[in-house]
Amino acid sequence: MDPKAFYAMSYGVYVVSAWDNGRPTGCTANCAAQITSSPATVMVSINKDNYTNKCIKDCGHFAISVLAETSDPAIIGTFGFRSGQDYNKFDDVDYSVKDKMPVLDDCCAYIACKVIDKMETSTHTVFLGEVIGAETVKKATPMTYAYYHGVIKGKTAKNAPTYIAEEENAGAAEKYTCPVCKYEYDGDIPFEELPDDWVCPICGAPKKIFEKK
Ligand SMILES: Cc1cc2nc3c(=O)[nH]c(=O)nc-3n(C[C@H](O)[C@H](O)[C@H](O)COP(=O)(O)O)c2cc1C
Repeated sequence: MDPKAFYAMSYGVYVVSAWDNGRPTGCTANCAAQITSSPATVMVSINKDNYTNKCIKDCGHFAISVLAETSDPAIIGTFGFRSGQDYNKFDDVDYSVKDKMPVLDDCCAYIACKVIDKMETSTHTVFLGEVIGAETVKKATPMTYAYYHGVIKGKTAKNAPTYIAEEENAGAAEKYTCPVCKYEYDGDIPFEELPDDWVCPICGAPKKIFEKK
């Protein structure tokens, strides 16, 4: 099997949110898709180790905030490389409650769902949700997974269904890499000349912890 064949598949970049006993939480996800139109249903695939998985099961609902190319990339890091179990991710972002679900303000659309079925795979739960509300939040180009990798230069987290172990070692050239989210700095200004208060554009980690590889 050639794992690179999976790179030919297309995805978006989303924040899947749920309630944790009245507290909003969620995680970055690329594995989401519409399944039927009437009634409207969508699916998300969420790792069993993700705290969001437990919260969706407990509250029986989830919402998908569809990120745009203009969305702050730090959202992806905050929601994709930290656990909501010990951190209030929604403290870092503006959000609104729509159709009774927490939705990011910095997204181009949202889809709120009630869980109507689920399938347990070896590592992920596939949640099937019936859509209870969906709106366009602002006119913007939705972010694709290819844009996240190609333009933002983001990496996939280990718990994403699309994670390929080799990705971690890709790119042999010497680079400054964020130890938290694996972002590789490739800006025009030499890394050493960046100001001391410069932070990782994906997860907000400080410059001083970047590793030269
Ligand atoms: C670009 C990107 C895509 C991701 N896609 C998924 C996904 O589709 N499903 C999933 O379970 N985790 C995915 N993840 C990983 C979770 O976002 C990550 O494990 C997160 O820290 C879980 O947070 P939680 O424990 O608060 O739920 C993705 C992460 C990134 C950065």
